Amino acid sequence: MKYLAVLGRQPKISLAELESLFENVQPAGETLAEFSLSNDSSGFPDIQRLGGTLKLAYRIELPIVQFLKTLPPEGKITLGLSDYSVGASAFKAQGEALKLKRILTKLKHSVRVVPNKAPILSTATSFHNHLWTDNKLELIKYGKTFYRVIGVQNIDAYTKRDQVRPARDAKVGMLPPKLAQILINLCGELPSGSVLLDPFCGTGVVLQEGMLMGYKVKGSDLSERMVEYSERNLQWLTKMEGLVPKSAGVVTVEQGDAASLEWQSPIDLVACETYLGQPMSSAPAEIKLKQEKQECRSIVLGFLKNLASQITSDTPVTIAVPAWLRNNGEYERLNLLDEIQNLGYNVKRFRNLGQKDLLYHRDGQVVAREIIVLRKK
Ligand SMILES: C[S@@+](CC[C@H](N)C(=O)[O-])C[C@H]1O[C@@H](n2cnc3c(N)ncnc32)[C@H](O)[C@@H]1O
Repeated sequence: MKYLAVLGRQPKISLAELESLFENVQPAGETLAEFSLSNDSSGFPDIQRLGGTLKLAYRIELPIVQFLKTLPPEGKITLGLSDYSVGASAFKAQGEALKLKRILTKLKHSVRVVPNKAPILSTATSFHNHLWTDNKLELIKYGKTFYRVIGVQNIDAYTKRDQVRPARDAKVGMLPPKLAQILINLCGELPSGSVLLDPFCGTGVVLQEGMLMGYKVKGSDLSERMVEYSERNLQWLTKMEGLVPKSAGVVTVEQGDAASLEWQSPIDLVACETYLGQPMSSAPAEIKLKQEKQECRSIVLGFLKNLASQITSDTPVTIAVPAWLRNNGEYERLNLLDEIQNLGYNVKRFRNLGQKDLLYHRDGQVVAREIIVLRKK
């Protein structure tokens, strides 16, 4: 079956996530990607595990009129239409939706059309109208092809996980849960119950998301206080009814320096945001930047050297390291790839993007995160 993903705000990073999990990922324009899933896989992919995808749809292979005839005959239908075609407008999208409504009315359905303020229905509109459930339907049009939406990112659940957890610390910088999911997914899909390590666990966002994805989690951090924060957040999550799959659980959260700690084996995958240096509200002066880079480099390389002797060949390791926005609008990176390869790792190459695209940044932030995807040689 062919699927279509509506990519998130940083589409290249979303593409990398899809490439790590699915086959034949092909970008379609700037904001969409098609991919396939072998026919023997069970059910649709779960959008709630994909931090970088806003909406997920499957390709309708039948002519659209034939497809509409396959809808259950009873009941009222809510219909939304998002048009991603070149030259799309709200007016054209609404016209297309009304055309489909007329066909459905002839088929004896009573139909409500979700109004288009833009050619594309926003994620919030799709989500709050539940446009992928029973008698509700969102169609995506891209050129001549139609897709039916099967899931929309649950914005409310992310906000809840991010803002309601008990232990938070603005100083360590909040890793958005969506980015934590992306870092984990960039390791590929591992069996449920595999052991995920985050050696810079901070308040535990990666560990939390790992548990929700069915992994056993193991964390460590230099700071005692952070260890306690992670423990509190993981306990809170474990108590949330029906959220954490049975295969998941907390193995250990311990204090230790990532450059020297001996973690208990097994370690099946590693995903983390390393130390990002000091928080900054404006571009750093040359001397300050040099010091920060030096410190972050030595922490990241020290950690990867220590880790290399404790994981088996082919273990996936995804790290987010800092990059700093300069006054000229360019990002200053750590440029670590050669040294990392010498420590015994292969850097993953993607088909539809390069390493320069793996930079996660938000408006107004000086410290961005460069994502590096590795496998132990
Ligand atoms: C950017 S924060 C990670 C935040 C985390 N992703 C979260 O969810 O809160 C980096 C963390 O690395 C820790 N750290 C710094 N140097 C370290 C080292 N050498 N070994 C282990 N942890 C370290 C800091 O205490 C901090 O909690």
